[in-house]
Amino acid sequence: MNPHMVDVDGAAPYRIQIGPGLLEDGTALASMLRGRHALIVSDSHVAPLYAQRVQQALANARPDARIATHVFPAGEASKTLANFSATIDALAMHGATRDACLYALGGGVVGDLAGFAAACWMRGIDCVQLPTTLLAMVDSSVGGKTAVDIAQGKNLVGAFHPPRAVFADTTTLRSLSPRELRAGFAEVIKYGAIVDVGFLDWLEANTNRLLASDDALLAEAISRSCAHKAAIVERDPFEHGERALLNFGHTFAHAIETEQAAFFGYGGGLNHGEAVAVGMVLAAKLSSALGIADAADGERLRALLQAFGLPVELPVGLNPAPLLARMRLDKKAQGSGLRFILWDRAGAARIVAGVDEAAVLATLQA
Ligand code: GLY
Repeated sequence: MNPHMVDVDGAAPYRIQIGPGLLEDGTALASMLRGRHALIVSDSHVAPLYAQRVQQALANARPDARIATHVFPAGEASKTLANFSATIDALAMHGATRDACLYALGGGVVGDLAGFAAACWMRGIDCVQLPTTLLAMVDSSVGGKTAVDIAQGKNLVGAFHPPRAVFADTTTLRSLSPRELRAGFAEVIKYGAIVDVGFLDWLEANTNRLLASDDALLAEAISRSCAHKAAIVERDPFEHGERALLNFGHTFAHAIETEQAAFFGYGGGLNHGEAVAVGMVLAAKLSSALGIADAADGERLRALLQAFGLPVELPVGLNPAPLLARMRLDKKAQGSGLRFILWDRAGAARIVAGVDEAAVLATLQA
């Protein structure tokens, strides 16, 4: 199967490649290395599976390169300033120069944290994203958002730093747990929800084959998702406007994740994709409660998410008032009140500012 290619235009254009075996394509991986220093950053779950493969592929293609690997503990709880600092230390110990390249090998946590280290080391070095989860392939590896979490919220410290390239090796999806694969579909479904009702039709028609990991269909789902994301981030790289549509369901999701974290630490309770699934259902409900969308579209979305095995209700034990308080701190909140990504109908999302808190509370209580 030839890889799918999606080009992202802009001030620093780059290519996303999607297909099997890309982590073994040393020539392609090494073509992104301008200098001699390569640092592979990964986590304790992914590194034992793939880091050696990437290191060997790079070394074969570039025998003159100095290649090192830095590994931190797997999980959202690791997306901290402390692990950011440890990654910076690894770059320093490696003697990484400004033409060094950091290869971020893993899921969203690795991509966000390693990308942020690449953004900061010597005011910015190249970062090649090597996503190994569906969620990272369709969302976090593309578009250049990098960040770490702090106690006050997820992703509150970070930078925009577009990758130099993205290689999404679809064979890595085979090592995902069924739960992780399903979580990734929440972000895939999101693209249909916000901009492409035809993609929702396609996902409804192909749910079972996608959940059975049909390689060609998975690659198509990833490529269509990346093409939607690429089009949006090309037009609005710094989220001054329409890029915020990518946050459909995320205001609720981040509140759920942060509130859960207060009890379990980051990584307990719903994972990110699951929280986004619940958040999208709530965003659709809020849209119909405000009279801007038909409730039937929300029911359709809920049914599709359920067909993909995703949760569609707030977890028991999370209370509406503290969730609302979390949303006030969300990055999408502005001085004039709460701002949400809502929809007029399936495939047509828009930004709505000044949303009445009482309506949000009622949606959370319903
Ligand atoms: N994940 C949302 C964005 O990249 O803008």
